[in-house]
Amino acid sequence: MTQRKILVTSALPYANGSIHLGHMVEHIQTDIWVRFQKLRGHQCHYCCADDTHGTPIMLAAEKQNLTPEELIEKVHAEHLADFTGFYIGYDNYYSTHSPENKQLSEQIYLALKANGKIESRTIEQLFDPEKQMFLPDRFVKGECPKCHAKDQYGDNCEVCGTTYSPTELINPYSAVSGATPVLKESEHFFFKLGECADYLKQWTSGSTTLSDGRVQQHLQPEALNKMKEWLHPDENGEGGLSDWDISRDAPYFGFEIPGAPGKYFYVWLDAPVGYMASFKNLCSRIGLDYDEYFQAGSQTEMYHFIGKDILYFHALFWPAMLEFSGHRAPTGVFAHGFLTVDGQKMSKSRGTFITARSYLDGGLNPEWMRYYIAAKLNSRIEDIDLNLNDFIARVNSDLVGKYVNIAARAAGFIAKRFEGRLKNVAGSELLAKLAAQSEAIAADYETREYAKALREIMALADIVNEYVDANKPWELAKQEGQDERLHQVCSELINAFAMLTAYLAPVLPKVAENAARFLNLPKITWANTRETLGEHTINKYEHLMQRVEQKQVDDLIEANKQSIQTASAAPAAETSQYTPVAEQASFDDFMKIDMRVAKVLNCQAVEGSTKLLKFDLDFGFEQRVIFSGIAASYPNPAELNGRMVIAVANFAPRKMAKFGVSEGMILSAATADGKLKLLDVDAGAQPGDKVG
Ligand code: 2FM
Ligand code: ZN
Repeated sequence: MTQRKILVTSALPYANGSIHLGHMVEHIQTDIWVRFQKLRGHQCHYCCADDTHGTPIMLAAEKQNLTPEELIEKVHAEHLADFTGFYIGYDNYYSTHSPENKQLSEQIYLALKANGKIESRTIEQLFDPEKQMFLPDRFVKGECPKCHAKDQYGDNCEVCGTTYSPTELINPYSAVSGATPVLKESEHFFFKLGECADYLKQWTSGSTTLSDGRVQQHLQPEALNKMKEWLHPDENGEGGLSDWDISRDAPYFGFEIPGAPGKYFYVWLDAPVGYMASFKNLCSRIGLDYDEYFQAGSQTEMYHFIGKDILYFHALFWPAMLEFSGHRAPTGVFAHGFLTVDGQKMSKSRGTFITARSYLDGGLNPEWMRYYIAAKLNSRIEDIDLNLNDFIARVNSDLVGKYVNIAARAAGFIAKRFEGRLKNVAGSELLAKLAAQSEAIAADYETREYAKALREIMALADIVNEYVDANKPWELAKQEGQDERLHQVCSELINAFAMLTAYLAPVLPKVAENAARFLNLPKITWANTRETLGEHTINKYEHLMQRVEQKQVDDLIEANKQSIQTASAAPAAETSQYTPVAEQASFDDFMKIDMRVAKVLNCQAVEGSTKLLKFDLDFGFEQRVIFSGIAASYPNPAELNGRMVIAVANFAPRKMAKFGVSEGMILSAATADGKLKLLDVDAGAQPGDKVG
């Protein structure tokens, strides 16, 4: 087998926020892949770093009374401790605020410039006159020009989804100082991406033939479809590649552009260069040839694991930057989807925005999460869901019930009855079945089909457990003259456990390390998936993994719950009377609810119910009956006859106990003192009119 030379990266986390399970999905996915390559004997290096530059980090430092350098140093230590806690085995976890990154960013910029790919243009941008700084889009807020929602960011409206430029906002204000921004001119540098379109069309749809003969597509099929949208203007001339603004004006935390005092590289220019810088720093420490990896035409492999939200940067800007500055391009960009928890977006108020620190400090085993996430991952760009009940069930049943128990059930007999000695069980049928899957499971890891790999590994564990049940070592141990048989069965089981450990080692590195000690092996390698241990003495068994307890998960969620009051800067007294605002909904979510104006034909109390009123309503297109739980607020129902209400018209009809069927829902506001107030509509609206 030829030894491959591989450089792998995960996206660089920003240096102003905590590591949460969303980050963990990516770094676990990457780490499993890297560990697999190393187990297979390849030369694989995993580099990452903190992404330290930009306005948000500069302002976050100021808020905390720190210099940006102090902030990023503090955060670097926290990030590294979090990742290390989850056994993410970087070869280097560096910083983009490093001498290597400064030198490489300058070198790439100057090479692009020498290649005619940099152009200077004067642009107009919103400027905060109080803070004396240009405002990034996210730091300008105001009213959406389309739907008039208040307090929307300068780049897009979270209510109606429209994208616009910050200058289109109504009554804009600076999110930094509150001042009204003014338009100001400034000279900016642009990377002429439009001129790279031909190269990018070819690279994005292309592939590289690897040293082992396999063909690696640069992008996943879904990513390639996105690229087609981005690379080709539509029939109205919309879309297509625009040139990329790579400079920012002082004050800015970043690298000053050579020959342009007061101008800085935009953070997204030096961030991916941070991959190179982290690797360069590693090379100088361990004596690797950096140029062999980054020169044009390099035969080494380079892969970037990223989230789907930053595909544009990695699949367009980054290959173009590399190519037109005389470097190699990536071998593959592997994007993954987002993490949801119990089917919903992670939420601070629900406690599902789970930080890596809270998980570790809560005493939960990081390998539980590594296993669960791996069991959900495949090579496609799909969101993955952490279902908390399923998490408990799956970890307990697969890892503890099926895998660890195999060792626990056989180790005692080997220790007590055979002084720790294993029999040579090279011809075992059971072990032959396990060994036969070695290349198939390797192919699953290689192609990032982890869910499939783990399904196959657990199917092997099932076979081993059936073997335990069929041979019942605890009964053999009690029977006269069955020593040989007991020795055979238990030796097979320990060998099977060693093979399963090797299969799981990319996912469970700590268990594999402890199991290697128990198995008396220097370390586990992929060869252990197919080779038996022969005559061999093992060490004392120490329990390898505990079960997850429901309480641990409940406590974790509780620890991550952040009420709106503590999350907000406003004093608690001002906000406490309000129900927290619900999770963000998209325009499409909103459009699913069909609300109509309806006229009350008759409203009456419901016999046998203190809560309900029965409404006969005219919806224009038809008449319907709706039961509404507002009796306590309207003691005299007949006074509602003839008025208009707003009702949801497209709910499925609901049976109301013994009272009848309700064909919709009437809207009302809930006041702070618990009363319900029906909504009204101005004169002129007719029954059946759509509300929205
Ligand atoms: O989206 C992010 O979190 C960025 N900090 C990722 C940067 S990845 C790379 F290009 F540096
Ligand atoms: Zn809007």
